[in-house]
Amino acid sequence: MATLNLFLSVIFIFLTIIPHHIINGEIPEKTQSLINKVNKKGPYLGLVIPNLFEMNPLLQHPSYKPSNLTIDFSGRRFRFGTISEEKVILVMTGLAMINAGITTQLLLNLFNVKGVVHYGIAGNANPSLNIGDVVIPHYWSHTALWNWQRYGDGEEDLLSLEANGDYTREIGYIKFADYSTNVSDNLLNNVWYQPEEIFPVDGTPEERQHAFWVPVDSNYFNISKKLQDLKLENCINSTTCLSNPPKVTRTSRGTSASIFLDNAAYRDFLYKKFKVSPVDMESAAVALICFQQRVPFITFRALSDLAGGGSSGSNEADIFAPLAANNSVTVVVEFIKLLSGLNAQVSGDVLLV
Ligand SMILES: *[C@@H]1O[C@H](CO)[C@@H](O)[C@H](O)[C@H]1NC(C)=O
Ligand SMILES: *[C@@H]1O[C@H](CO)[C@@H](O)[C@H](O)[C@H]1NC(C)=O
Ligand SMILES: *[C@@H]1O[C@H](CO)[C@@H](O)[C@H](O)[C@H]1NC(C)=O
Ligand SMILES: *[C@@H]1O[C@H](CO)[C@@H](O)[C@H](O)[C@H]1NC(C)=O
Ligand SMILES: *[C@@H]1O[C@H](CO)[C@@H](O)[C@H](O)[C@H]1NC(C)=O
Repeated sequence: MATLNLFLSVIFIFLTIIPHHIINGEIPEKTQSLINKVNKKGPYLGLVIPNLFEMNPLLQHPSYKPSNLTIDFSGRRFRFGTISEEKVILVMTGLAMINAGITTQLLLNLFNVKGVVHYGIAGNANPSLNIGDVVIPHYWSHTALWNWQRYGDGEEDLLSLEANGDYTREIGYIKFADYSTNVSDNLLNNVWYQPEEIFPVDGTPEERQHAFWVPVDSNYFNISKKLQDLKLENCINSTTCLSNPPKVTRTSRGTSASIFLDNAAYRDFLYKKFKVSPVDMESAAVALICFQQRVPFITFRALSDLAGGGSSGSNEADIFAPLAANNSVTVVVEFIKLLSGLNAQVSGDVLLV
């Protein structure tokens, strides 16, 4: 009985000292009025960043001018500033797909955002690219929504719930037996890749659509072509440099999953099956949210070593990761400069009329 009383009083104290809105996730009035105020000064370009390792080089970049304003909500901090006249909101997501999706959705729901730029470092699946290269994929996919097939079933067998339209064999599968030394002992069978169920902002609520390859914004992608001659930092000090000078490259595809990929066989499979270059844990989540909200977006990812090991020493990736993070920031800043140059041109034209 005493224990129950103690328990109830702890609950009572908890409920009385924690404001109601913090328990149920509502937007506090004070925060909402601040949001209304900043939105009148928009629109902003949203910069969605995986973690501090990638955000710090931007905070220290001479082209980033922070304002004194930050807004904290739901465990996220939204930082306001400018890059080359362009008004920006920076937000850090934290690791992997759920964090990246939630943070992007919050950014777009709370603020007056005209476009999203996502950047960071990534694993590499494409043997013709090098450590330190900054890649700009045209399409992104999420490759961890799986239908894992029952042992004994094969390619010809309908997947469970496939008849309802819930799952499909269209995208393809990984057959674990192909990667096993003892095929008769392999119980893992096949995994079939699935497109994401999406609910676009201009669609009918509750009526699902599907998406697998999500394109970045065509206009942003075209503008990013001008970044390909950009000179990137090659050395971390006077003696330690990359063996291949890093470059900015537009590629066709990248893929994401909440999986830290450090396995050469799976990397190889992803490259052969899906022709992807960067492999990361956030980009496709940002892509899917922006796609559903009809907000333009683009991703810049600097490659670390081949995911799962390759020709260069495994600690090479660790040594050059800070350089890669800096280079991704260099490219993002140059992209925003191009964008604000174009914006200036557009408003100039409007003034002439
Ligand atoms: C922040 O900057 C704005 C505009 O420059 C200014 O009006 C305001 O007083 C500043 N607030 C603080 C807390 O420094
Ligand atoms: C392969 O798996 C089968 C079935 O489990 C087993 O009988 C056999 O001994 C295994 N062979 C090897 C070389 O491990
Ligand atoms: C981007 O470039 C492609 C190929 O040149 C062109 O088809 C497309 O219309 C361009 N998109 C925009 C928005 O300008
Ligand atoms: C350059 O960096 C490498 C790797 O961190 C280190 O081993 C080396 O001592 C550094 N050289 C100089 C001159 O600082
Ligand atoms: C990355 O950029 C930061 C801030 O601009 C700088 O202090 C640091 O030396 C750079 N690191 C590398 C490895 O280039």
